[in-house]
Amino acid sequence: MLSQTRQPGHPIHPLFTDRWSPRAYTGEAISTPELLTVLEAARWAPSAYNAQPWRFIYAQRDTAAWQPIFDALVEFNRGWAQRAAALVVVVSAKDATFPGQTEAAPNPWHAFDAGAAWASLAFQATLSGWSAHGMAGFDADALRAAVNLPQSYAIQTVVAIGRRADKGVLPEALQAREVPNDRRPLAQSAAEGHFSFGS
Ligand SMILES: Cc1cc2nc3c(=O)[nH]c(=O)nc-3n(C[C@H](O)[C@H](O)[C@H](O)COP(=O)(O)O)c2cc1C
Repeated sequence: MLSQTRQPGHPIHPLFTDRWSPRAYTGEAISTPELLTVLEAARWAPSAYNAQPWRFIYAQRDTAAWQPIFDALVEFNRGWAQRAAALVVVVSAKDATFPGQTEAAPNPWHAFDAGAAWASLAFQATLSGWSAHGMAGFDADALRAAVNLPQSYAIQTVVAIGRRADKGVLPEALQAREVPNDRRPLAQSAAEGHFSFGS
């Protein structure tokens, strides 16, 4: 299934290269239990002080919850995400009450931890036979209003979850991009002891 572009440089579980972000989806619905399984995996992500800053606001297609979230996506993303089965808005609490404290304080790790949760979500989706595709392309003010999000929460991303389809469902320009991409070599991302990657 995966192209030659995904050859790990060191031995890893195939889950890590099997996960990718397609845009071609079948339009098949995802059942609530299947969606909750994907979110359950995200729930078990690690977080600083176990603050669990993530929150997930989900909408299955053909429900009342779908349209307001879908409408907040940029046109490009609406073009392909219309065939997804669910949208999940990943948000994070900017403040937390840390151990030994009685009042909430800024949580410097809220975005980092929400990112870990998104990764778990995406890997569980892959394991469950679904695909997950993160999107930064949305109107943040419209989305905040659509889901009634308090200002104390930051929007991180919207995730489209769907059953992967043949790229033929996409317009021609997107068909050419419907292939798993590569990564730079590990040596350009990991170094011993000192930062040595160039500025
Ligand atoms: C936070 C985030 C935002 C993204 N925003 C978009 C987006 O708005 N539209 C889109 O088509 N892809 C989007 N992507 C997908 C990335 O382009 C993709 O994850 C990246 O190229 C790596 O490819 P892979 O996920 O297939 O391994 C986003 C991914 C992430 C994690």
